Amino acid sequence: MPLLPPHRVAFLAAVLRSPVTVGAVAPSSPKLAARLAAVVPRIGQPVVVELGPGTGSVTTAIEHRLAGRGRHVAVEIDPALARYLRTQHAGVEVLVGDAADLPRLFAEYQVTEVDAVISGLPWSLIDIDVQRAIVAATARSLRPGGCFTTFAYVHALSMTRACQFRALLGEIFFEVLTTRTVWWNLPPAVTYVCRRPRAVQGAQRRPGPAG
Ligand SMILES: C[S@@+](CC[C@H](N)C(=O)[O-])C[C@H]1O[C@@H](n2cnc3c(N)ncnc32)[C@H](O)[C@@H]1O
Repeated sequence: MPLLPPHRVAFLAAVLRSPVTVGAVAPSSPKLAARLAAVVPRIGQPVVVELGPGTGSVTTAIEHRLAGRGRHVAVEIDPALARYLRTQHAGVEVLVGDAADLPRLFAEYQVTEVDAVISGLPWSLIDIDVQRAIVAATARSLRPGGCFTTFAYVHALSMTRACQFRALLGEIFFEVLTTRTVWWNLPPAVTYVCRRPRAVQGAQRRPGPAG
């Protein structure tokens, strides 16, 4: 009998292959995953893009929220994790690729007018220029009223790249909400909920009524 469930084994294997790419000691808890997935609209046929799905904790919460509606595209850089994810989530379009390459991936797979981009990327381990490229491409992909959300580990909030990332969100979005800490996660985390992109290069966005 295995000591760990298959998703834990797949996650641990990815950490051992490339700790800096994974940037976490464990998959997100169901509580954190549900908090992230809460931005998926309850009505209509939403287009949802997930960045860095890993072994699928957040994927499961998004699928639950979509309940068979819309489109769910997941971009994962680790081919082995992407293969694992496909075995567990047949309804999700899993793309093997780098989130830094989002404009090309979105063009190739015709991903437009996105309702929600939900990220599990390890921002505090990603260079600021790459952070900027990914968040700007994300902002450009959102439809009016669309939302970008991600999480940050509380213990790492004062790290330089984590601070740079938080500042970057304010540069790119008019509205950035930091939610309460999700303590039931290893380690505890907050989420950022970002709406109303400012005019980012290559995009025409107008502020909403409160902007
Ligand atoms: C912190 S883990 C989060 C996994 C999962 N979303 C969760 O919350 O349990 C980060 C994930 O992002 C993936 N990743 C890291 N850099 C990436 C990039 N540039 N593009 C796409 N995926 C990336 C890693 O392979 C890993 O699966």
